[in-house]
Amino acid sequence: MNKAFFDRLPDGREVSIYTLKNDQLELRVLDYGCRIHSLFFDGRDFVCGFDDVNSYMVDTGYQGAFIGRVGNRIKAGKFTLNGKTYQLAKNENGKHYLHGVYSHTLWQVKEADDEKIVFVHHSPEEEEGYPGNMDLTVTYRLDGDCVVLHYDAIADADTPASFTNHAYFNMNGFGSGDVLSQEMQILADEITLVDDELIPIGKRMDVTGTAFDFREFQKIGARFTAEMDGYDHNYILSNTDNTEVCGYPLTRAATFRSERYALDCYTDMPCIQFYSGNFLGNGPAFKGGVPQARQNALCLETQYEPDAVNHGGGILPANTPYCHTTIYKFSRR
Ligand code: GLA
Repeated sequence: MNKAFFDRLPDGREVSIYTLKNDQLELRVLDYGCRIHSLFFDGRDFVCGFDDVNSYMVDTGYQGAFIGRVGNRIKAGKFTLNGKTYQLAKNENGKHYLHGVYSHTLWQVKEADDEKIVFVHHSPEEEEGYPGNMDLTVTYRLDGDCVVLHYDAIADADTPASFTNHAYFNMNGFGSGDVLSQEMQILADEITLVDDELIPIGKRMDVTGTAFDFREFQKIGARFTAEMDGYDHNYILSNTDNTEVCGYPLTRAATFRSERYALDCYTDMPCIQFYSGNFLGNGPAFKGGVPQARQNALCLETQYEPDAVNHGGGILPANTPYCHTTIYKFSRR
């Protein structure tokens, strides 16, 4: 494991970058937000990232970050639990809650070696307005051609919880142009319907016969229209075949591929947000001065259904372990 100085936060605290490496992969991660900064396979970097902390702070794309306490949107940042109403920050245009603050937190590194890093964070009760103290452990591990993301947490009160990772991939490599002619498969029969502010409306839609059907491989941009020119949707995973991957029983949720490379996403989470980088383009330049551009990379965010807390779910009971795994597996085609 190689640890190096990355940058300083405005308050002077140091941010470090850690490099994990095996014979197939090289993963560079920051202790700021447990962010995946670079991910090399076959000599090529497949993810977006920045060269300095200020860019990570001002950009609104959650580049490479671990996301929590709840990923995705909570309508008006508000929910009621055990008879009490909680108000979270309305950090999306002052209207809704989006993605939380763990992505903007300096995590502690508990252990690190050549192929594994373990981050920990204590999130106190009322941080962001949530109930309960929560202790989190985020583990990233390389295993052959797989990047294993494993999340453990426990809280001392009932609380909403849904973690994800927000890495942006381009399967021709970072900085190689848009992903619209690359192909996606998502093993899901339904999506969560949302309003024009991307807030779930409490209904699902069968994808059959629509531009949202990715059960067979489709080019990402192939079915765009003037009304629908990007994906930012939650898919309810339907693959029930459990496969053992790196020792975990998981299902394949999605595969994203170019002509030369493929990325399989395996998980034990029930849903995945397919976000085609629609808002990329306004933030600071990426690593090495590569400009941001709309749809030049995309995210596959494994998660619980968005805004579940306002639709009868999404609660981690007190003193109950949260334990989930997502794996990104690389291959050459
Ligand atoms: C998520 C959301 C998107 C967008 C990005 C961050 O994936 O679903 O709408 O907010 O995060 O830019």
